[in-house]
Amino acid sequence: MKSFLVILLILAISCNGQDYKTYYFDQKVNHEGFEMNDLTFKQKYLVKDDFYRYDKGPILFYCGNEGPIEMFYNNTGFQTHTLAKELNGLVVFMEHRYFGESWPFGNEEESLKKGNNKYLTSLQALNDYVVFLNWFKKSLGCADDECPVIAIGGSYGGMLAAWIRMKFPNVVDASLAASAPIYQFLNREGLNQTLFYSIITRNYAQNGCSDKIHQAYQYLTNIIDSPMSTKYFKYQYDSIFANISQAMNTCEPITNSTGLTQLRTYMDTAYSYMAMTNYPQASSFLRSMPAWPANASCIPMEAVNSNSTVFELFSAIKLSTDTFYNYDQSANCSDISQGDDGASDNDMSGWNILACSDMVLPMASNGKTDMFYNQPWNFEQYKEWCNYTYGVTPNYDWALDFYGGRNDLEMENFSNIFFSNGMLDPWSGGSPTEYLSEDLPTNYMYASAHHNDLRLPQEGDPESVVQGRELEIKYLKKWIQHKLPPNYFINKSDY
Ligand SMILES: *[C@@H]1O[C@H](CO)[C@@H](O)[C@H](O)[C@H]1NC(C)=O
Ligand SMILES: *[C@@H]1O[C@H](CO)[C@@H](O)[C@H](O)[C@H]1NC(C)=O
Ligand SMILES: *[C@@H]1O[C@H](CO)[C@@H](O)[C@H](O)[C@H]1NC(C)=O
Ligand SMILES: *[C@@H]1O[C@H](CO)[C@@H](O)[C@H](O)[C@H]1NC(C)=O
Ligand SMILES: *[C@@H]1O[C@H](CO)[C@@H](O)[C@H](O)[C@H]1NC(C)=O
Ligand SMILES: *[C@@H]1O[C@H](CO)[C@@H](O)[C@H](O)[C@H]1NC(C)=O
Ligand SMILES: *[C@@H]1O[C@H](CO)[C@@H](O)[C@H](O)[C@H]1NC(C)=O
Ligand SMILES: *[C@@H]1O[C@H](CO)[C@@H](O)[C@H](O)[C@H]1NC(C)=O
Ligand SMILES: *[C@@H]1O[C@H](CO)[C@@H](O)[C@H](O)[C@H]1NC(C)=O
Ligand SMILES: *[C@@H]1O[C@H](CO)[C@@H](O)[C@H](O)[C@H]1NC(C)=O
Repeated sequence: MKSFLVILLILAISCNGQDYKTYYFDQKVNHEGFEMNDLTFKQKYLVKDDFYRYDKGPILFYCGNEGPIEMFYNNTGFQTHTLAKELNGLVVFMEHRYFGESWPFGNEEESLKKGNNKYLTSLQALNDYVVFLNWFKKSLGCADDECPVIAIGGSYGGMLAAWIRMKFPNVVDASLAASAPIYQFLNREGLNQTLFYSIITRNYAQNGCSDKIHQAYQYLTNIIDSPMSTKYFKYQYDSIFANISQAMNTCEPITNSTGLTQLRTYMDTAYSYMAMTNYPQASSFLRSMPAWPANASCIPMEAVNSNSTVFELFSAIKLSTDTFYNYDQSANCSDISQGDDGASDNDMSGWNILACSDMVLPMASNGKTDMFYNQPWNFEQYKEWCNYTYGVTPNYDWALDFYGGRNDLEMENFSNIFFSNGMLDPWSGGSPTEYLSEDLPTNYMYASAHHNDLRLPQEGDPESVVQGRELEIKYLKKWIQHKLPPNYFINKSDY
């Protein structure tokens, strides 16, 4: 199944034209050790200053994650518009190394080569942001006690936003870490590897179709797991393969159990991403999806009951998964071979390398507490795949050993981070959602998907998200006030 689901900000908001300027910073390729000190690359960043009034005002810094920085800029309207206006802040978005245009070795191909890819780690990325922020503040003429910095991010970017405050509180004054699964690591006390898939399941259970989707998974899994060697069985299966191919309208007919495994992965991708992006508004980013896509995908399943034939069951699954794969009805058949890559046109290599190094997020399904099937995390196989494909070896404990957060007590060493999460979002299963301390507020929002709060406020947003954003503004103001003139937020228009 998806052992390395890329955690992208999904959902486009149409921003009218470009309201930012693009710059490039000469960044060190390697921050650790000193032997490659002179090697630099151009790291992209965007600046939006239309709400910036007071020249010692707050810097709202987005910690770029795994994709071109414009993608995050386009999808973080809460920061670029709402927060920028509320705080009269200077908005800066910095691209993550090895993504977009920020290639340490000139171009994508050269940078992703084995050996050259070893500087693609979360720690190198954090160092990029620290080095940049120190320079940037100086270039603005800010002293240490001026121009407070707020780090903001969603998903993996939210993890970076949390960690940069945890490790570099001298550089970053406060953080907003949205849907940041900083607990989804093997050495986190009480990590529940199956929670991810049971939260996905919740989206479909609440809309009444998780049992029926499970029925389809079970049907496929029983065949996949059964011996198929004898001629007699082979003959029987052929008609089933033909039936499922026809019901799903597959581009290529399914002829063996490998085809069924592909179909299962095809379903995994659709149901996982629809849950992650179960937003209240229609979207058209990676794929066109209706409002509340997970809910919508349950409607075709209403045709299924316990007497339904295999053909009927998979005809419903076809319509259900089309909510994700073919909402614009541009495809004339189901390409079930797209599997793991089905969610994204982007090359996932960059994320995979991170997920093979210090960002290993183990998760598993069991088909009991979730609608999927039994698929434990395979440590040996994963390690071999990482070494074979990228020449790197995953370190499961590294992130929490170095950043902290192996248990709640450790978290008490940190402050001024707002952790927001949504109850529909599977990543919330590995994120701080329960009370930590007065300085580390958490907000677990009902009816909210993956960092819904970072998106531009819109009609139809759940009340939990509307109130959540208010709370975020309140805390962020409180945490940076001491580096601003008295009454800065009261008399903002004066600045
Ligand atoms: C971001 O939005 C701009 C303006 O709408 C658009 O031109 C650009 O293609 C978008 N970029 C990405 C990566 O989504
Ligand atoms: C893990 O989560 C599942 C699904 O919510 C739950 O049923 C199970 O009891 C949890 N396991 C542990 C050890 O807490
Ligand atoms: C869609 O389903 C979610 C639960 O998974 C629920 O919170 C939300 O209200 C539903 N939306 C609509 C429009 O029914
Ligand atoms: C396959 O579909 C045909 C009709 O297209 C039906 O007659 C047959 O019973 C189906 N077989 C199975 C195993 O569902
Ligand atoms: C089994 O199915 C896969 C995927 O459809 C296909 O690529 C492969 O050629 C098939 N193998 C045999 C032996 O038919
Ligand atoms: C399934 O078929 C049986 C026997 O024909 C019938 O009694 C039952 O009501 C059917 N169940 C559903 C859900 O249609
Ligand atoms: C179906 O789509 C494929 C690729 O999009 C195209 O090559 C093919 O001609 C289409 N077939 C029909 C019958 O429209
Ligand atoms: C990693 O892969 C290389 C070849 O690509 C191989 O020589 C080496 O033994 C592998 N290391 C491990 C630990 O499997
Ligand atoms: C900091 O973390 C350690 C565990 O590493 C814990 O024992 C200690 O109580 C924490 N300190 C504070 C002030 O919370
Ligand atoms: C806010 O600004 C107004 C007008 O500039 C001024 O009269 C007032 O004293 C200011 N209030 C505070 C609390 O600074």
